[in-house]
Amino acid sequence: MKKRSIRELDLAGKRVLLRLDLNVPMDEGRVADDTRIKASAPTIRYALEQGASVVVCSHLGRPKGERNPAFDLTPAAVRLARHLRMNVQMAPDCIGPVANEMAGNLNPGQVLVLQNLRFHEEEEANDAYFASQLADLADVYVNDAFGAAHRAHASTHGVAKQLPSAAGLLLQHEITALDPIRNGQAGKMGFICGGAKVSDKLGLLERLAEISEVMVIGGAMANTFLLAQGLPTGSSLLEQNMVEAANEISAIAAEQHCRLLIPSDGVIARGADAPPRAKPLAFAEEELPDDWQILDVGPATVEAFAAAVGECDTIVWNGPLGLFEREAFSGGTRAMAEALAALSDTQTVICGGETAAAVAQFRLTDRMTHVSTGGGAALEYLQGLELPGIAVLPDADAADEDA
Ligand code: 3PG
Repeated sequence: MKKRSIRELDLAGKRVLLRLDLNVPMDEGRVADDTRIKASAPTIRYALEQGASVVVCSHLGRPKGERNPAFDLTPAAVRLARHLRMNVQMAPDCIGPVANEMAGNLNPGQVLVLQNLRFHEEEEANDAYFASQLADLADVYVNDAFGAAHRAHASTHGVAKQLPSAAGLLLQHEITALDPIRNGQAGKMGFICGGAKVSDKLGLLERLAEISEVMVIGGAMANTFLLAQGLPTGSSLLEQNMVEAANEISAIAAEQHCRLLIPSDGVIARGADAPPRAKPLAFAEEELPDDWQILDVGPATVEAFAAAVGECDTIVWNGPLGLFEREAFSGGTRAMAEALAALSDTQTVICGGETAAAVAQFRLTDRMTHVSTGGGAALEYLQGLELPGIAVLPDADAADEDA
């Protein structure tokens, strides 16, 4: 269902409460990755061009209802100002008299950023009164926080019921990119799934096994699949209690005629801090000593994975194939990213913060068709779940006298 767009709102002279996902990685008070901030700028620019003023709200981290300087949004606001090439005001709180006054004093063309919503426990509780205090700051509400759309919080859900509301440009862009996959209409589909745990991605694996032609499994979660097949895992990270689930996913894949590939070789070491063995281990041929771990997929695996997904129309990738943060164990993830970047007629869709970070680390972001700004939200959306932050927005053709 198409949601009402910000483009359908009359914004001239209006104050827009704009929910963004400025939950960005921080490193000692500095923004470590500004992808989400950059992606938020077009909606702000659009609103300003239409003659609106903008009151930005967002969470940062999980301060659990307490004011905590480690989760101060000011550095993100400063970075936002840099991307917008304009001054941005910062309110010391997201509700209360000062925020009210600062919002009330905004002129068309001006931007105010509110302090972290999660300094108030009412935000995550989706408290109606807290939502009404946010609503009081503006005339209309726009949600552009795709990354937080799976949360039913006051700023992503409650407030949308209290103001004329619409989806922002980033939210719409994400929906447009992910809908064909979610609806199983992305042609022949390949799914590259990595990361640490099967248990984190059960729903996604089950759903994508149904709609994909090919599914390849890497990362530490592949160790659970290796164990399920009686292959050597040494002291690798894995989930004993997920062996049954791995078997079930394999069974769903077989039933749905989805080709499921697991690694045939891996880069091994005595631990993440130890140097890797020069030669990758071929799982079917050699034993893995008890004190060794699999920390990356090997070259034969990447070659097989790339060949298998390379025939697809759309490739979705979620989760790195190894411990890519360490140079010694980044080869598999890098080679996979390079293989995807080399494809010309394939839609390549990257989901999840770690995968997006890996692709960025290899400077290949621009070579992918879509890199989602959503982590958990993208995964929930792809498996067909209803995201409260999207569901609550009015449909495109909904009658609304206020809009
Ligand atoms: C994210 O980074 O996935 C979103 O900003 C949501 O954050 P949360 O998991 O703390 O709700």
